[in-house]
Amino acid sequence: MILEALHFTAALATSSRRKPREIAGSVGLWSRARRCAKAWAPHEENCQAFIEEKVGQVIERRRVTVLGSGLLRDVPLDYLAKSLQTVTLYDLVHLPSARLKVRRLGRENVRLIERDLSDGLDFLKAEPPDLVISACLLSQMALHAPEPGTVVRRHLADLLGGPWVPCLITDTGFELRNRQGEVIGTGDLLGGEPPPPAFRAWEWTVAPFGEAARETETVHRVIAV
Ligand SMILES: C[S@@+](CC[C@H](N)C(=O)[O-])C[C@H]1O[C@@H](n2cnc3c(N)ncnc32)[C@H](O)[C@@H]1O
Repeated sequence: MILEALHFTAALATSSRRKPREIAGSVGLWSRARRCAKAWAPHEENCQAFIEEKVGQVIERRRVTVLGSGLLRDVPLDYLAKSLQTVTLYDLVHLPSARLKVRRLGRENVRLIERDLSDGLDFLKAEPPDLVISACLLSQMALHAPEPGTVVRRHLADLLGGPWVPCLITDTGFELRNRQGEVIGTGDLLGGEPPPPAFRAWEWTVAPFGEAARETETVHRVIAV
């Protein structure tokens, strides 16, 4: 609790948006990621490997934009900073822990911008990046949107239809499973919108047994496009 409170206070002081609710959400994510580090590791490795694969498909490696860069756990920041001329990281909040990761790289080519991305990606069109990565952002945007389906449709159209190589990683739905491995509940995470065809798919144990409930785990289905 003390660590969370300190992180919240430092984030509020360094944030350009200074929105306590958003900062509290990011600090909650940071705390959960620390508690669930072992369960999340395979998902984070899959994300990083897929992003590196995508970079391999980019011919002009000037600018990369990461949407939903968050805690920089799914994103191979070091690799991106070495492989492309500039890296721009967008999120509602860049916590001090993420800012520190960037500073520790000791590179001048990484920028952090705090922005609400639920209004679409038109702002990228003035100077389109070569690669745009949407890193486990979409379901989170949908979760807080008054009309989740609209936000999901717009993000998919903008990301996949832009003048850049798109890279989409998103969770699309979840299962609640008991200790016998039986599915006791399911849910959609994309506001009822159909996900695009995936190149890769995997499971992400977001809440292992004991995290949200003692006798159930929450497992998300993730696609990479
Ligand atoms: C699951 S986390 C992403 C994790 C991140 N890719 C990483 O490597 O640690 C989802 C992120 O989406 C961000 N987010 C949610 N809604 C957003 C919005 N409307 N605009 C911008 N970012 C948003 C959250 O702040 C959070 O950092």
